Amino acid sequence: MTIYDYPSIYASLLSPNDLMIEEIQRWIHQVLDAPPKKVMDPACGPGTWLTPFAQQGCYVAGNDLRSAMINEAAKQLKEFPHELRVGDMRKLSFRERDFDACINLDASIGHLPDEEAILEHLQSVYQLLRPGGVYLVGMIVFDTFAEHDPALLYTEDFRHLEGGGEGRLRYTSLFRDATQRKERIQVELWTRGNKKLPGYMIETYDLLTFPAQRLKSLIEQSGFRVAQIYDIDDPELELQDIEADAGDLNLILQRPHQS
Ligand SMILES: C[S@@+](CC[C@H](N)C(=O)[O-])C[C@H]1O[C@@H](n2cnc3c(N)ncnc32)[C@H](O)[C@@H]1O
Repeated sequence: MTIYDYPSIYASLLSPNDLMIEEIQRWIHQVLDAPPKKVMDPACGPGTWLTPFAQQGCYVAGNDLRSAMINEAAKQLKEFPHELRVGDMRKLSFRERDFDACINLDASIGHLPDEEAILEHLQSVYQLLRPGGVYLVGMIVFDTFAEHDPALLYTEDFRHLEGGGEGRLRYTSLFRDATQRKERIQVELWTRGNKKLPGYMIETYDLLTFPAQRLKSLIEQSGFRVAQIYDIDDPELELQDIEADAGDLNLILQRPHQS
């Protein structure tokens, strides 16, 4: 069993704080000409990022490969207008079209296997956005040969877990390898006093990384333009270019108004 097999607990572990939500919304508002009314997430998990937009009155649409995640997202969003699909983010399909914004954070785009898949995904998002609409996407930019030293990415303690008890979550980057274009992530969860969860869980998965120049050319081929670039370690700082070895970035891609 992995943490993904407990979507309701996963939802409570990942729920963003108010500051993160404000940050994300500020970025989107800076590029969009009006506040978003329709927002989608192509790898929505338990609806973590869609929920705050739904609470603000947006229509939200979520897609995920795992039906357990979609079932959890349905619970989180039940009081709000929404649609949810089980599917691959390469071929998105929603009842609604002309979305104002698409959000895909936590480098989740890196779950796709290769650049061909990335291009297919970018084009699929592009088709569902209105002209002028934006795609806020997190990704890992890495060009150098390899880094083998494990690096702590994120850790958080939880006093009140869903279903009782407390826990500690830790994300570690085990290595980054530019030749294989991947970063291996390790997730560990320690818990105490929760009846559903074993005391310790560990899992690893690989995320696709992007050499800076390849990423720029993929974005260009998809038809998007890069509107803004943020370093996730310093969200206040707006970068001017996608530099080699930039690490974890959040990009705001925009579908041109005339398209
Ligand atoms: C780290 S979670 C992020 C979930 C969500 N965006 C959030 O912020 O909570 C990554 C999600 O990507 C989904 N996923 C992985 N590959 C996918 C694919 N090819 N198409 C759609 N979803 C995928 C997984 O099932 C998982 O729910």
